[in-house]
Amino acid sequence: MSSYYVGPAHLRPSTLPDDIESQNSQNYIPGDLVRIGSMYFHWTEKHLDSKQLKQMRYEGDPDADEIVQILDLRKGVDALPILLASKNPTVLMFMEAAKTIPTHLQATKEQKTLARAYFARLIGPLLVVLGHYSLAGGFSSQEIMPVLKATNYLTSPNLAAVTRRLYETTQWVMDVMTRDESVGWEASTRVRLLHAQVRTRLLRSLPSAALGEGVPINQQHMATTLAAFSVLPIWCMDNLKLRTSQKDKEACIAVWRGIGHWMGLSQAILETHFASWGAAETYAASAVYHHNVAPNNTQPAILVSALANQPPLFGKLPFHFEMARMLMGDKTADLLGLPTGGYRSWVGVRLWCCTVWILDYLALFLDTIFPFMRWGTRHADLQVKLVQYLIAWNVGNKKRFDVTKFELKFDPDNVQNEANTQLHTKASSNCRPPNIDEVRRTRRRYIQVMLEPVALSLLVMVVIYYLGAAALSTPSRMGQLFAFSGHTEV
Ligand code: HEM
Repeated sequence: MSSYYVGPAHLRPSTLPDDIESQNSQNYIPGDLVRIGSMYFHWTEKHLDSKQLKQMRYEGDPDADEIVQILDLRKGVDALPILLASKNPTVLMFMEAAKTIPTHLQATKEQKTLARAYFARLIGPLLVVLGHYSLAGGFSSQEIMPVLKATNYLTSPNLAAVTRRLYETTQWVMDVMTRDESVGWEASTRVRLLHAQVRTRLLRSLPSAALGEGVPINQQHMATTLAAFSVLPIWCMDNLKLRTSQKDKEACIAVWRGIGHWMGLSQAILETHFASWGAAETYAASAVYHHNVAPNNTQPAILVSALANQPPLFGKLPFHFEMARMLMGDKTADLLGLPTGGYRSWVGVRLWCCTVWILDYLALFLDTIFPFMRWGTRHADLQVKLVQYLIAWNVGNKKRFDVTKFELKFDPDNVQNEANTQLHTKASSNCRPPNIDEVRRTRRRYIQVMLEPVALSLLVMVVIYYLGAAALSTPSRMGQLFAFSGHTEV
């Protein structure tokens, strides 16, 4: 993809001029056409300039920070059982507030069903976008980098550790988008407390100059990450022409707004910047602009390298570079220092695009013509199961199934220590052996489901062939056929 426009379709200019230079966002006035890398949008009074975004960096998550102090959470411990067992009144109040999404921020039942069905249907491309665009793009931010570097979170020179953390982050996404709400809340609360531990420990152990302005893991950076998880993938689905209705977009944002509450985002931010798809898109465009004006152009390539040779794509590194370039656009990829992958990777990525597109429209076709088959739903459900197995297998270091408890992994008293790069690459002790039969059964069912349209097409072709042959061989039968379909022979 070369360039793309975000915002209401009727405002999209017929040409996207190359010669617009990015400038200080405080100089823009509503109506200006703005470009950052491959992304264009019209500046409105609702977009946030660098000054407004900077103000949001001074607020962290004081409620969660207080809980970390009270419970005395440390590296390597599972925070959730300690939280659930506590009888401290402040902890009980925190839990109640953390669990209950305020009514005006909640998604409706219909929106939850829609968002889950959308995620299950497009799980493959959505996860590919998360790794290649959302996370790779996020790692280009010079503002966020000091915290990520200090903790070696996805920036470790040990690529195996980075890959494992990517799987753990994917586990969290699966927990919030495909499992019961209680599982989503538990996973998010664990991560929220993990962030609070990182924040309090970094503030204690690093000089403020090393951390940059504001507090680590602040409200602006969290809102930007939330937008990277929720808005960027939908932009890419639109660009890939994968079916995404306005209702799907609103439903996804409504669900992510609730997740934002679980993660400790302030009510003010959620009700302003995640109130609707339009509001979230406006925030996302402002944030992408702000973080990409002078990006780090080495970290994104390191992150993309951790995706190479991993299931289910098993692509070589050039393929993943090309995938990231296709998703974010060439000019953004150049800004982030992502090299081209060469001719073969270019073709491979386009073949991948065609495959996901054909699968999506095949599901639409079969669900419209043969709704009783429920092909789309069965296909989506099996995809989700296979991805869950894949993650549990990889989090278990390809020996066992495991789930991460999102424990703190970095050593706060030794933030620059090389040992931090080796942390937590072993499966934890509570893992279980995979039920190979169950995995095989699911894989077999998936292959059968994929073969159904092939068998159906063959059947339709055979029927057409015989009907055609019969009609052509005997004129009288042809007459019968026409008579049957309501026409009379002349
Ligand atoms: C709402 C937004 C965010 C979400 C959903 C999110 C999600 C996650 C998840 C799922 C993990 C656990 C991965 C693992 O166990 O390896 C994690 C860990 C972490 N996150 Fe975030 N994150 C968000 C915002 C941020 C921001 C803004 C920063 C910093 C600038 C950040 C820094 C970290 C660090 C340093 C860790 C690893 C801590 C450790 O175990 O050593 N996160 N995050």
